[in-house]
Amino acid sequence: MYETLNDLSPSIRERMIELLNARLADAIDLRTQLKVAHWNVKGPQFIALHKLFDEIVDDADEYVDLVAERAVQLGGVADGTARQVAERSTLDEYAATGGGNGQEHVDAVADALGQFGRSARQAIEIAASAKDQDTSDIFTEISRGTDKWLWMVEAHRQTGEWVRPSSGDRGEAGRDAAH
Ligand SMILES: [Fe+2]
Repeated sequence: MYETLNDLSPSIRERMIELLNARLADAIDLRTQLKVAHWNVKGPQFIALHKLFDEIVDDADEYVDLVAERAVQLGGVADGTARQVAERSTLDEYAATGGGNGQEHVDAVADALGQFGRSARQAIEIAASAKDQDTSDIFTEISRGTDKWLWMVEAHRQTGEWVRPSSGDRGEAGRDAAH
């Protein structure tokens, strides 16, 4: 690690640099998957999905930069070559690499956003319990943005049929409301 006047302890910085590089690989992977979707999508929803997927790429590029530069601010090195990303990403390979219609790309992009959103949300907690609120805040921003994009993608396959959550799925608020 590089020396820095940043007052977070070296052990916190070391853990956060590792976390940031892990999520950096996921974010770069997500960005490349969205470009594949942007290029290859076919079908009557072409123009809407083609544009939507590129808007997600723009945000994903911001996530990539936020995460990489935070690792460097903490005295680390950002690892982001294609080979490093391929080795480290926790995302599955894009599910529609052989081309596909709008629905297939919607499904594949929703899967990628769902996986990325989960790892980003977990990183909020990991950073907060390590007492690095700033890294936690970065992941909160990323998680919030990813949830928004997942909504916009999933809306293409939601039919409007609303399903009442089963009681087992309900959190505290749901249980309180039921009583
Ligand atoms: Fe383009």
